[in-house]
Formats: sequence, C-alpha cells, structure tokens
Amino acid sequence: MSHPVYDPFDAAFQENPYPAYSWLRDHDPVHHHPADSRAPAFWALSRFADVWDAVRRPEVFSSASGLTFFRDEIGQLGLPPTIVMLDPPVQTQLRALIGRGFTPRRVALLEDRIREFVRGRLAGVAVRAADGLSVDLHHDFSATIPTWVLAELFGLPESDRERFGPWVQTLTRLQNDGFDTSGLLGAGAGVQVIGEMFEYFTAAIAAARSDPGDDLLGALVTAEIDSERLTDWDILGFCFVVVAGGTDTTASLISHTVQLTGAAPAQRALLVDDPSLVPDALSECLRLESSVQGLARTTLEDVEVEGVRIPAGEKVMMLYGAANHDPREFGETADRLDVRRQAPRHLAFSSGPHFCIGSHLARLQARVGIEELLAAFPQVDVDAAAGVRHHSAFVRGWVSLPAELGQPAVPPGSSG
Ligand code: HEM
Repeated sequence: MSHPVYDPFDAAFQENPYPAYSWLRDHDPVHHHPADSRAPAFWALSRFADVWDAVRRPEVFSSASGLTFFRDEIGQLGLPPTIVMLDPPVQTQLRALIGRGFTPRRVALLEDRIREFVRGRLAGVAVRAADGLSVDLHHDFSATIPTWVLAELFGLPESDRERFGPWVQTLTRLQNDGFDTSGLLGAGAGVQVIGEMFEYFTAAIAAARSDPGDDLLGALVTAEIDSERLTDWDILGFCFVVVAGGTDTTASLISHTVQLTGAAPAQRALLVDDPSLVPDALSECLRLESSVQGLARTTLEDVEVEGVRIPAGEKVMMLYGAANHDPREFGETADRLDVRRQAPRHLAFSSGPHFCIGSHLARLQARVGIEELLAAFPQVDVDAAAGVRHHSAFVRGWVSLPAELGQPAVPPGSSG
C-alpha cells in the first residue's frame, strides 16, 4: 500500500498519526478495520462533522460497552461502570450530582495554591539545571502538577500523598500501554493497584460521610438533587476516572504546548510578550496534539454515516485527533499552530453528554503551569527526538521529554 496506513498499534503510526488521519478523512472517512491478532474488527470515523455528530447521539453511539476495541473491558476491570461508560439518562443524573460537588468555583479557588506549587517546582528544576543535571520537562515538571492538584482537590492528608503518585503512574501505564496488547488489564499488578486505590477511597468516603470537610469528597457526599444522593460506588467510579483520565492528559497538554511553541519561535514570542494569549494557545495546542486521540462507542442500531452502513453492535472509534486536524472544519491551515486562532470548537474534550467534566480544571492547571514556566524561562525548549512517547492507540503523550531551560528571564525592575 503506498498511502499512509491507519494502524493504531503500529509504533510508526503512533509517532506521527497525522498523514494517515489525513488519508482516512479524504478517502475512507468511515473506515472498517478488520480483526487481527491484536483486536477485533472495528470502525473509525475521522471527519470532524461525523465525530461531532456521533458523540452527540448516545442513543445510537453508546458508551455502555466500553471505550476501546475490546468487547469485555468493563468485565475485565471488575468494577461497576463509571460515568464515562454509562449512557443517558442514568449518566445525565449522575453527572448532575457530580457537577454539584465539582463546581467551576471550587476549581477556581485552587489557583493561588497551584501557582505556589508550580513556582516551587520550577525553583527545583532550575537548581537541577544550574547543577548541570539534565531536566526532563514531562517527568520533572508537567506530570507533577496534575498529581499534586488532584491530591489537593481530594483533600488527601500530606502523609498519604506519596501513595497517590504511584496510583496515577500505574493507572496511566495500564490505560495507555496495557490496552494494546492484552485488553484493558493484562497485568495482575494493575488489578492490585486498583484494589488498593479503591480501599483507600472507600475509607476516605466513609470518613467524609461522617464528617464532610470543605474538599471535593465532602462536596460529593453532600451533593443532592431531589433527595437523590451519590452512592459510594458512584463516587469511587468518579475517583477512578479522574485519576486515570485527568492526570496524564493534562500533563501532556503542558508538555505539548512547550514543544509546539518551542518549534515555532514567532508563536512563542507572542505568548511571552502577551501572556493573556495563553488560554487560546492551550486550546490550539490541545487541538493540534489531542491528549485523547480516540475512544470508541458501540452502535445500538444500524446507522448510515457518509453513505456507509454500520450495523448495530459494532465498535466505532471516534478519532478526535483526526477530527481536530480536519481542514473542512479548521480551514487549509488546520495543521499549523496559530496561538491566535480562537477556533470556536474542537473535540479534544469530546462534545455532547460526555464532554470532559474536568476541562476547567485541566485548563486552569495548564494555564498556570505555562504562565509560570514561560515567565521564568521564556526560551525553554525540548528535544522531542530524545523523548519517549506512550505507545497507545488511544492517548498521545510523553513519558519523558528532555529539555533545555535556556536563559532565565531577567526579573522586571532588575538592572542586569
Ligand atoms: C487536557 C486534559 C484532559 C483531556 C484532553 C480530557 C479529555 C476528555 C475526553 C475526550 C472525555 C470524553 C470521553 C469520551 O469521549 O467518552 C473526557 C471525559 C471526562 N473527563 Fe476529561 N480530560 C482532561 C482532563 C480531565 C480532568 C483534569 C478531569 C478531572 C479532574 C477529567 C475528568 C473527566 C471525567 C469525569 C469525564 C467523564 C465525563 C462524563 O462521562 O460525563 N478530565 N475527558
């Protein structure tokens, strides 16, 4: 085959999926991927309009059979389905209750503490660099922020926080790498980590029920609509999605933003000169390098897309990463970074009923991280060729990304 091929398990595809996405959008927008030794057959939608439409029709494209190519992932997890694997109306009700606890206001209150943490982190990174040690932007900086923020949000005591980091790492690894070769949970270690995490959160929820504090768990146990409350299982499921889906995604957004703007100095200069552009720049970088490249749905009935009939009961990948580069939506410059683009919509947080409930928290952390990093080290750049990526058909992000901090900024008012 002489054209770029969509093979989600192939390392070369994962390294640079965009040529294959472009081919799919133009020539095979409703792609049927045959079964092979790695996964059962599935379909893939790549045009923006088709993915946008499908994720907003949960009555046809259901999340209740899981979000990967595999058929029995929820059973393999041994857990009740979490919010992201439920369909309306049950999901709608659960989401409303969670929304009562997890409000934009609660998130906004974290800003000063996040900034303080980020400054401390940057000081540590600067010391490493000054000592001549190598700096790994992803590991030493980006990934530390969401892990710390979640521990803070959940109100975990300082003494318990050391346990939180390894949970995040294991769940991220399982989710990113474990999916591909052996279904959702190939490794027994993963099941053990999930068990540990659930035991911990079960106790934390019980403590919050008897004495609700002013933290997220306190807010979730007291959230009420028409005398409906969240059950322990609902809250546990939410904790699981947040730890697995809200950490590495946010870290990758920060790392990708440094990478993309480092490779486009004129764009970087715009941000350094005018930090009020950072929110738009983050949105643009998330569009170009979407942390979640794709998740599946299952058809509940026969459906026609672009003139192709997809039968009921089939897995269909929503290729967010391909949709977000579609020139039919973003014009001829769709592949190009433009921190002032202000695209009115993209699909990096999905759309419709499962639109990311943590998007405001992700944006806040990434904004503070990038504002502080560029204020301290405006020339920071990464060596992507020496970096290590996740090998995943579903997410795009770094495990390790060596960086040069460059000259520190001269503090305002200093004569030097
Ligand atoms: C840049 C960072 C993030 C990205 C790219 C991202 C992406 C997404 C996407 C694409 C979905 C939809 C899943 C689907 O299509 O089935 C989603 C759902 C979700 N996200 Fe995020 N997410 C991010 C950060 C976060 C954070 C920080 C949190 C929480 C603290 C979070 C919590 C959730 C939850 C609970 C859902 C399920 C919502 C529902 O099913 O109603 N995410 N996210």
